[in-house]
Amino acid sequence: MAETREPVLQIEDLSVAYVTNTGLVHAVSDVNLTVHRGEIVGLVGESGSGKSTMAYTIMRLLRGDAVVTKGRVRVLGQDVYALSEKELRAFRWSKMSMVFQSAMSALNPVMTVETQIVDTILAHRPDLSRQAARERAKELLDLVRIDRKHLQSYPHELSGGMRQRVVIAIAIALNPALVIMDEPTTALDVVVQRSILDEIRRIQEQVGFAILFVSHDFSLVAELASRVAIMYAGRIVELTPSHLLNLSERHHPYTEGLLKAIPQLTADEVTIQGIGGYPPDLQDLPPGCAFHPRCPYAMDVCRRVRPAQVRAGEKVLECHLFNEAEVKAHV
Ligand SMILES: Nc1ncnc2c1ncn2[C@@H]1O[C@H](COP(=O)(O)OP(=O)(O)OP(=O)(O)O)[C@@H](O)[C@H]1O
Ligand SMILES: [Mg+2]
Repeated sequence: MAETREPVLQIEDLSVAYVTNTGLVHAVSDVNLTVHRGEIVGLVGESGSGKSTMAYTIMRLLRGDAVVTKGRVRVLGQDVYALSEKELRAFRWSKMSMVFQSAMSALNPVMTVETQIVDTILAHRPDLSRQAARERAKELLDLVRIDRKHLQSYPHELSGGMRQRVVIAIAIALNPALVIMDEPTTALDVVVQRSILDEIRRIQEQVGFAILFVSHDFSLVAELASRVAIMYAGRIVELTPSHLLNLSERHHPYTEGLLKAIPQLTADEVTIQGIGGYPPDLQDLPPGCAFHPRCPYAMDVCRRVRPAQVRAGEKVLECHLFNEAEVKAHV
């Protein structure tokens, strides 16, 4: 199904912190992101950059030690945090759903595939009959291309790839407009990973939901998504159409570093260049741009002033290199 410009997910100025006994961990800071109907948007960043925190925040599944300190999340125009608990239960899964990072443990080992699918459907749509939910379970297995005989299987009787298909079937059971996929293929070997990705793309085209696809695998995300958000230390430092993700384009220095870290096959050798240094402590972020200690282009202003969001062609970036006016104002 084609993308439209109708927003399905709108994240506005979102900041989220974990309360710990040594202080606040600023896991997500000032994030703005819109995902449109039928669109696939990728979210990439190193481990600990805040990707899962953002996913849980959208689903309003944060645990007690996390607080949304600022901003708003709207799904289909509805402020997710303005819903009552009861409304939220109906909203979740029927409007937005999630494939969790630890998909293998998302399934209950002592329940058959059918029971898990049927129970999920009935938990969010108590108005449906068990018979109708059973019929839907069959359709869903067809959709993810698992033989219907596996409705009576237990998770341990399925391969990793099949379990992942079941998890995806459960996520799309109620036809949500938005599915958040948090590293849905990380636990699988590359061949199975590839087939699950093809499956996701095929089902998405058929059914038409939007996907926020979270991964640390840059090339995988660039291939699947039409736009990619690059996260560093809780901030989206660049948002770019994926067709511009190559080294002949100018990018945020962090994006450039990630691109250079993808193995480049040249005539007779494989070259990989990593990014030096480590991500910052989210309890004690450096002043100015959080990337400056690792940035090969860091200027004086980068150490003092946090870069504002700027638009450069089709990209949105937070980097002084793209905003001469701001840099001049702070010299
Ligand atoms: N319950 C918690 N209490 C304190 N800090 C937390 C908690 N959960 C996560 N964090 C911290 O918040 C930051 C963001 O974590 P998050 O899990 O969102 O990152 P991620 O990008 O999903 O990483 P990964 O790629 O490893 O899954 C990390 O620094 C993490 O240590
Ligand atoms: Mg994560």
